[in-house]
Amino acid sequence: MDKLRITGQRTLQGVVQASGAKNAALPLIAAALLTAETVQLSNAPQLMDVRTLAKLLRSLGAQVEQDGGQIRLSAAAVNHYEASYELVKTMRASVLVLGPLLARFGQARVSLPGGCAIGARPVDQHIKGLQALGADIAVEHGYIVARVATPSGRLRGARITTDMVTVTGTENLMMAATLAEGETLIDNAAREPEIVDLANLLRAMGAQIRGDGTSQIRIQGVDALHGASHRIIPDRIEVGTFLCAALAARGDVTVQGAEPSHQDALLDKLREAGAQIDTGADWIRLRADALPGGRPRAVSVRTTEYPGFATDMQAQFMAVNCLAEGAARMTETIFENRFMHVQELMRLGAQIDIDGHTCVVHGVPQLSGATVMATDLRASAGLVVAALAAEGETVIDRIYHLDRGYDAMEVKLRGVGAQIERISDRISGK
Ligand code: UD1
Repeated sequence: MDKLRITGQRTLQGVVQASGAKNAALPLIAAALLTAETVQLSNAPQLMDVRTLAKLLRSLGAQVEQDGGQIRLSAAAVNHYEASYELVKTMRASVLVLGPLLARFGQARVSLPGGCAIGARPVDQHIKGLQALGADIAVEHGYIVARVATPSGRLRGARITTDMVTVTGTENLMMAATLAEGETLIDNAAREPEIVDLANLLRAMGAQIRGDGTSQIRIQGVDALHGASHRIIPDRIEVGTFLCAALAARGDVTVQGAEPSHQDALLDKLREAGAQIDTGADWIRLRADALPGGRPRAVSVRTTEYPGFATDMQAQFMAVNCLAEGAARMTETIFENRFMHVQELMRLGAQIDIDGHTCVVHGVPQLSGATVMATDLRASAGLVVAALAAEGETVIDRIYHLDRGYDAMEVKLRGVGAQIERISDRISGK
């Protein structure tokens, strides 16, 4: 298993390029199942989760070609409707094929994702919503077995109010509703930029959708969708990770290819911590090389749905707070058990008290390098941020978690002056 070796306290300075958003790319790829024509995506990130979903689509009979940031998808020859446990267990977003398969082919068999490191993460809202659209769904042998049960063989529009705000749940239901008969109203919908990006592709494919970006999305079903080309939005979590790294390491970094309007909640918190932030149409510059007192200020954070502070930024921001002046309260409201990075940050010298869903982080003047373990995708990113600011060498084990969601992270960080290298077991023969 690959590891990362980071020697901290190098000056981070310069320009780093953001990739396309993983969490936008995944539903966009799944949306290609809704048409027999070709869907082309640009600005696609090159990472494991995208390869996993591409593999799943190929196993259904689709053609998927990725050439750098371009992905060409054709679901003309799809003749299997099953997402196996082997694939779904490695990436629960595989459940995004459920809505499109059911809408276009009237059937789907998708493994339940099962346990996951950051909590139970059930898919009951996906199932409940699809049932409201006329699907007959049973859970058999660990699989969601779904069929369209209406006389016409098509899903039919319905009013759906989800019990909680769910991002992939909203996406699954949106995709399913595009080909349903009549109108669907999704109430309590997620408002993330990735939802709007999916709606933009679906509209380009001929879907009729209004209200995306608000909590009420209306979809008028159409008989068929056609091919389209679409550019994927920037990855706001990757952008945010670079900004946190720049603040923790007290650097001066510009992230190019970003969408500042997607980052409001984070930028406010970074400013509160003392960073100087400048933005342009597609870039964000963070300067922390002349912080008053030499350290960021501790800033309390509560994760919520968009447009609030993203749960996917909690670990990286905690790493900043670990080095801050003062104490901060960090409350996680989206997922249970999303503090697994805390024990690892403490190995680097952080002082953190956990009480249920809240952590109190007492800032220390300096962290010191150690061997730590990545436990999930964003927890790993938090460890990278901490390691870049820590004195001495940190080795982060199990970075396959990081490879799931970050495109060439160590190469990009080296480009702004970080001392970071991948230690590959394959090369060293261990
Ligand atoms: C997506 C993101 C993930 C991010 C999360 C929250 C993708 C591919 N992943 O995950 O990076 O951390 O949003 O912003 O976009 N829930 C249920 N039943 C359901 C669905 C969700 O109880 O049917 C719960 C979950 O357990 C969780 C909360 O609702 O507590 C929000 O989850 P959800 O928004 O669905 O997360 P994902 O879409 O899986």
